[in-house]
Amino acid sequence: MDLKIAVLPGDGIGPEISAQGVAVMTAVCEKFGHKVSYEYAICGADAIDKVGDPFPEETFKICMDADAVLFSAVGDPKFDNDPTAKVRPEQGLLAMRKKLGLFANIRPVETFDCLIHKSPLKDELVRGADFICIRELTGGMYFGEKYQDDEKAYDTNAYTRPEVERILEVAYQYALRRKKHLTVVDKANVLASSRLWRQVAKEVATKYPEVETDYMFVDNAAMRMIQDPKFFDVMVTENTFGDILTDEGSCITGSMGLLPSASTGEHTPVFEPIHGSWPQAKGLNIANPLAQILSVAMLFEYFNLMEEGKLIRQAVNASLDANVRTPEIQVEGGAKYGTKEVGEWIVNYIKNN
Ligand code: IPM
Ligand code: MN
Repeated sequence: MDLKIAVLPGDGIGPEISAQGVAVMTAVCEKFGHKVSYEYAICGADAIDKVGDPFPEETFKICMDADAVLFSAVGDPKFDNDPTAKVRPEQGLLAMRKKLGLFANIRPVETFDCLIHKSPLKDELVRGADFICIRELTGGMYFGEKYQDDEKAYDTNAYTRPEVERILEVAYQYALRRKKHLTVVDKANVLASSRLWRQVAKEVATKYPEVETDYMFVDNAAMRMIQDPKFFDVMVTENTFGDILTDEGSCITGSMGLLPSASTGEHTPVFEPIHGSWPQAKGLNIANPLAQILSVAMLFEYFNLMEEGKLIRQAVNASLDANVRTPEIQVEGGAKYGTKEVGEWIVNYIKNN
């Protein structure tokens, strides 16, 4: 297969982990005989500094022209501490989602045995938890009509039937490939937008009788996730609820730094780690590249290149078993490996296995 990849390293530790993601991608393509080419583009604070726009037109074009985007992270504290800043790196992320039509955000919540002790939950509750949250990404309050003056402000949580239908279709496709259990999360006891979600979900559900569909209010889902995370298989929800629940989901596994994600929709799909730009670690060669590397696995799997994805997952597990780990997950007394060294170990594993 020919693959044209747009690489958006972004800010903070982004460029360092991006380099490892690209190295792994290249190694896998060599091994399986795929032709890959890379086009680099700027985004986030880096792009604000360079051209005053966190998602410049040129970057958009490069993304549109690619088969997939390998994204790393955006964000810089100099904007967080300045409430008067007119443009922010995060706006680049929202612009990318909207312009590429990335309405489905797929966030797997899975555990790694060697990191279970880092979970805030009891071992027996969390061990074996494995679910996927499908978050609607281009609608709801993030993009609805907004207003703000000194006395009043609002954000509108608007959804249309086609927006709800298409995300549910994505969720059912995932459920069919997994344990065939879908939980639709909403707040239909209070919100009109949620009542539309539930109404549409009930209709779409009749098309998938082999999937067990249940409906849960978001407050209950937040609770259930820490009481019994193994209850979930696939969960689907609106943009804002999904934002909140996926932070909760990633942290209960103890492996937030290891989780990748995919955003798919109308145009080029984007693959990125869940974690952010960790500016304090920039340039120190200590950031964990595994979430970025696993997002490369998700990229291959998106194109149905399952063996390629599997080899990456196997290499990541082997590196953890061999204690080739960055400082934050190294066991006591074990040697600490840098971002680059972990990446190189994985590339070597791929070449030799
Ligand atoms: C996320 C992030 C973003 C969001 C921010 C950075 C705009 O928290 O991807 O979950 O809220 O969607
Ligand atoms: Mn978030």
